[in-house]
Amino acid sequence: MPIINFSHQKGGVGKSLLSYHLAYLLKDNYDVQLLDLDNQKSLSSIHKLRNHKLQQHSIPIKTVHSKHELIDLINSIDDNQYLIIDSGGFDSLYTRLAILGADINISPTADKTIELLALVTAYDSTLHQLSRKLRKNISCYVLLNRIHHSVKISLILILFCLILTSSNWSIHPFIKP
Ligand SMILES: Nc1ncnc2c1ncn2[C@@H]1O[C@H](COP(=O)(O)OP(=O)(O)OP(=O)(O)O)[C@@H](O)[C@H]1O
Ligand SMILES: [Mg+2]
Repeated sequence: MPIINFSHQKGGVGKSLLSYHLAYLLKDNYDVQLLDLDNQKSLSSIHKLRNHKLQQHSIPIKTVHSKHELIDLINSIDDNQYLIIDSGGFDSLYTRLAILGADINISPTADKTIELLALVTAYDSTLHQLSRKLRKNISCYVLLNRIHHSVKISLILILFCLILTSSNWSIHPFIKP
């Protein structure tokens, strides 16, 4: 499963942090590329702030400048490589191409109404549109992120709400590389 896309149409949910950490965890054992697809280029900007030594221990961050470059990069990934994509917190041609090209789509979310609403309305509608166009079911794993350890009953309620409101979701509480 070489292409893993972190996407959510809401900003600040943890896409950049989680994509970087996953790429970093995989880098010693696999050929990993990390793609910064966000217009704000948070990952790339932070990477530039690292000093030379830290950059060497970090992971290089790729960017693309056209949809063709993105498609070529996605198509170039073989079974022995990983491409981790940090999508921006919005809906665009680029974020849609990343959803379509990914083997796994992961949407981080906290137990915040606004983050959950963005998932079950806007993002779900995007997935349905893409699924209809491609005539195949494109689904997404929800990764519960930034949930306080004291949250228990509400967590279960959230999971139920997500399952009931949308048939496209598959719930997955953690990732095992
Ligand atoms: N599990 C976590 N534990 C602690 N802090 C976290 C966690 N996940 C995210 N954060 C923090 O929350 C903030 C937002 O995370 P991040 O920048 O990764 O979100 P994003 O989805 O990439 O946002 P954007 O769409 O604006 O790019 C950051 O300060 C990040 O360090
Ligand atoms: Mg980000």
